[in-house]
Amino acid sequence: MTIRDIVYVGDDRLQQVAAPITEITPDLKQLATDMLETMRHHHGVGLAGPQIGLMARIFVAEIPASHSKPPHPQSGVTYVLLNPNVIAHADTFVEGEENCISISGWRGRLRRPEWIEIQAVDLAGQSVHHKVDDLLARVFWHEIDHLNGRLYTDRITGSDNLWQVENTGVDTTTH
Ligand code: NI
Repeated sequence: MTIRDIVYVGDDRLQQVAAPITEITPDLKQLATDMLETMRHHHGVGLAGPQIGLMARIFVAEIPASHSKPPHPQSGVTYVLLNPNVIAHADTFVEGEENCISISGWRGRLRRPEWIEIQAVDLAGQSVHHKVDDLLARVFWHEIDHLNGRLYTDRITGSDNLWQVENTGVDTTTH
């Protein structure tokens, strides 16, 4: 496994739409493994392809038990999802805080639909279906935004809703 270099805000690749994945190759599987390793290294709960310069529609997500005390009820499941499609979502929005491995030292508050239902493909090529709410919904939205060239900061309104944080390198809520 390899910890990949992060693509940071200001790099055009974070504003580009990632391409659909047409073939699950050994290289892609290796990249997925590296993405998980890179996400964990940065204490993140999600990471999308473009954040390591892979302009393909793949993201990983995982809420570790160490994310909070007591462990978040959604912790302990690892997601590696290709070509995610949003097939339904809540009409109601919830406010929450986010940050991003690619936007080090900042944190913001924004509204996201309360739940999301997606269809995607796993690394075995099987179609998978997930309907998630709470923190995982926020992570899925955040990562799918990355695949469409959008950052959470693009969705923030009002300067009060974006602030600097001390970058300790151990923030456990980065996406
Ligand atoms: Ni992010």
